Amino acid sequence: MDKEQTYGEVAEQITAVTEGEDNLIARMATISCLLSEAFENFFWTGFYLVDENKPDELVIGPYQGSLGCLRIAFGRGVCGTAAATGETQIVDNVHDFPGHIACDSRSVSEIVVPVFNQDRDLIAVLDVDSEKAANFDEIDQQYLEQIIGDVFARCTTRQN
Ligand code: SME
Repeated sequence: MDKEQTYGEVAEQITAVTEGEDNLIARMATISCLLSEAFENFFWTGFYLVDENKPDELVIGPYQGSLGCLRIAFGRGVCGTAAATGETQIVDNVHDFPGHIACDSRSVSEIVVPVFNQDRDLIAVLDVDSEKAANFDEIDQQYLEQIIGDVFARCTTRQN
């Protein structure tokens, strides 16, 4: 099965499992689990949430993988850059990325997709890391943005 077919299947699964579930953490945990199970080269898959009390900071959310850093300031590393710019970031080799935060030195490439609610407020970022260099491309970007858009565009607040 190629990457696009896998994304097609996992997107259907995510829609089926999260349909009717309003809780944000429940949806994020489900997405992290299903993506991580679907792709064996997803080494770390999870969410950093915008901290309600410190709106310029991300705090760890649901994830699958090794221990993640607890907090990331907007503008720092790949996640902080995605949060500050509101744009998806694809990095082929994080060791070449200025200010990269090395939570686990085994991570080499990554993609970070911003998560917006219905009002286009940033509520979180989805971070996927791989031990393989250049594991992510525009196909990952297209499918992950679509999955995230479908699941979170119906959120009305930062909580649900
Ligand atoms: N790679 C991220 C940090 C988070 S972890 O890798 C789980 C970054 O540079 O933003």
